[in-house]
Amino acid sequence: MGVRHKKIILSSKSNGDKVDNQALLIDLVDAFTFETDFNSYADFLLYCIEKHFGYTRTVLELIPRDSDKLLIASKRGLSEEFIAWSITELGSGISGKVAVNGRPMLVDDLTSNKNTAHYTRIFQKEGVYSLLSVPLAIKKKVIGAISIYGKERTTFTSDDISAILNAAGFAANFINFLYERDSIQDRLNRLERYNENLEKLKSFHDLILENVPIGVIATDVKGYVVLMNRELETMSLLRREDCPGKRWYDIFGFEGDIRHKLETSFRTSTPQLFPEINLPRKNGSTLPIEMKTDVIRDYSGERIGVVAICSNLDEKKKIEREIEKIERLAAIGKLSAGIAHEIRNPLAGISGALQAIREKIAGEPELEKVLKRVFKEINRLDSVVEKLHDVASPKKMVLDLYSISEIVEDSLFFIQKSIGGRKIRLLDRLDKSLKPIMMDRDAIRQVILNVMINAMNSMPQGGDLTVETSLLARAEVLGPEIIWYNAEHYRPAMPRPKKNAQPYQSVIITDKGIGIPQTIVPKIFEAFFSTFSSGTGLGLYISARIVEQHQGLIGVKSRPGKGSAFYILLPVRSKQVSL
Ligand SMILES: Nc1ncnc2c1ncn2[C@@H]1O[C@H](COP(=O)(O)OP(=O)(O)OP(=O)(O)O)[C@@H](O)[C@H]1O
Ligand SMILES: [Mg+2]
Repeated sequence: MGVRHKKIILSSKSNGDKVDNQALLIDLVDAFTFETDFNSYADFLLYCIEKHFGYTRTVLELIPRDSDKLLIASKRGLSEEFIAWSITELGSGISGKVAVNGRPMLVDDLTSNKNTAHYTRIFQKEGVYSLLSVPLAIKKKVIGAISIYGKERTTFTSDDISAILNAAGFAANFINFLYERDSIQDRLNRLERYNENLEKLKSFHDLILENVPIGVIATDVKGYVVLMNRELETMSLLRREDCPGKRWYDIFGFEGDIRHKLETSFRTSTPQLFPEINLPRKNGSTLPIEMKTDVIRDYSGERIGVVAICSNLDEKKKIEREIEKIERLAAIGKLSAGIAHEIRNPLAGISGALQAIREKIAGEPELEKVLKRVFKEINRLDSVVEKLHDVASPKKMVLDLYSISEIVEDSLFFIQKSIGGRKIRLLDRLDKSLKPIMMDRDAIRQVILNVMINAMNSMPQGGDLTVETSLLARAEVLGPEIIWYNAEHYRPAMPRPKKNAQPYQSVIITDKGIGIPQTIVPKIFEAFFSTFSSGTGLGLYISARIVEQHQGLIGVKSRPGKGSAFYILLPVRSKQVSL
């Protein structure tokens, strides 16, 4: 029962033969305190009956709440066997009847009474021959019965009966009080345990709410924030301490249609779904989210607030972009492989046939001039096919230690030859002291050539083309205006890559050409994007992939009408690494 009660110490004091009714009541009062144990008090009552009347064989039964059986609260002087046999239901047996009627019953001779005679042998075995059963009742409410067995027939005097009735009525109040108190205590204990469990459940719910990777915000019925979880704090960059008591769409700054829809959902208690909206964040940026709102109701169905659940779509978007990129690359690769194959063979055939014609038309300058032009175009087609082939099946990088300045010098030599009649001045500022670093020489030469050829193409009227090599402690020293190609974040904003706090060897190729308009800068590294008349739009696409495979960086800084500078940065590595 949870609470330890004071036990009553039974004394063996006897008051002589004459029943002192008052002394009995005083004993019953004395034994009662608020801490008294209920069962001890029942024991004490039976003890008093023995002490004051001399009856040694007694049973005290109670009617528990919601039960039709009598429950033995105390017994005295009777065998376990007899007690087990005598348990009755309400309404049956002597005490069962007393407990229902609330009237005492006296059986002077158990062996001859018509209701009990057939149990004579049991009574004889127990040594009991008469029975007085008195109700334990408070006003009209019967709470149990005391059964007093006599060792002889007709033992109960009318004085005894009235004194016992008196004592039973008196004690019933105490017993009832103690019984009620214990059951209240029992209910309190249960309530306490229930509360503890509720607390545990609540903190478990709180923990779940805190740790789900979904933003949750709840408001009261007027739309004022009452709860916001950690994930939403991270998503919005807001501090949740700042939010309670404010309207949540004010907190996030939702405006226009979204706000209108949210306000409607409050007014009409209808759930709303926002498949993709931008969550304004505290630092001014936005985060793509999916938001669902719904009404919160209590158990009676009463509306008590609104909850909004926000899922971060950033990761999903990133993955979608990646998948799109992979799909695009796969499509380009497939297409390129097909085109390369379809063009290369006929091209070889055409070349061979033209070679035969060239011999036939020797000495005819007009025709020779035409043929020269045709060969030039064939070469161009061949280089396009070559590039397509590179896109379709990129070569595996073969790394070794090479001097970047030497590769630039090689490339300059080649470029020099292709300047032709154009007024282009090649200038170089090469740091010859740069140590060789790991790279695929042919691939890096191809990158440098691609960028240099673009620089020449951007200066149809001629101009200076400068190439510079140097060692950089970190990419940041080049300043913030460079827009770096970054495969992951390439579209749409091309932010500067994060991991650039390492030394690089750089090649910077600057022209004084037409420059690149701001709007097309994000597109120049895409496949097949070209504004040059004879361009395929693959040069920078292939270059960026090569630089990426070297874990380097490629970026551009350009001013329309003034010129552009391309930056190729390779990490300083002097040991074999697998790329
Ligand atoms: N130095 C530059 N000045 C101005 N625009 C440039 C420069 N470099 C590149 N671009 C722009 O970027 C586009 C893409 O360049 P990219 O090298 O990928 O293709 P392309 O030169 O047009 O064709 P390809 O290189 O395949 O022959 C160019 O068409 C041009 O619009
Ligand atoms: Mg190009």
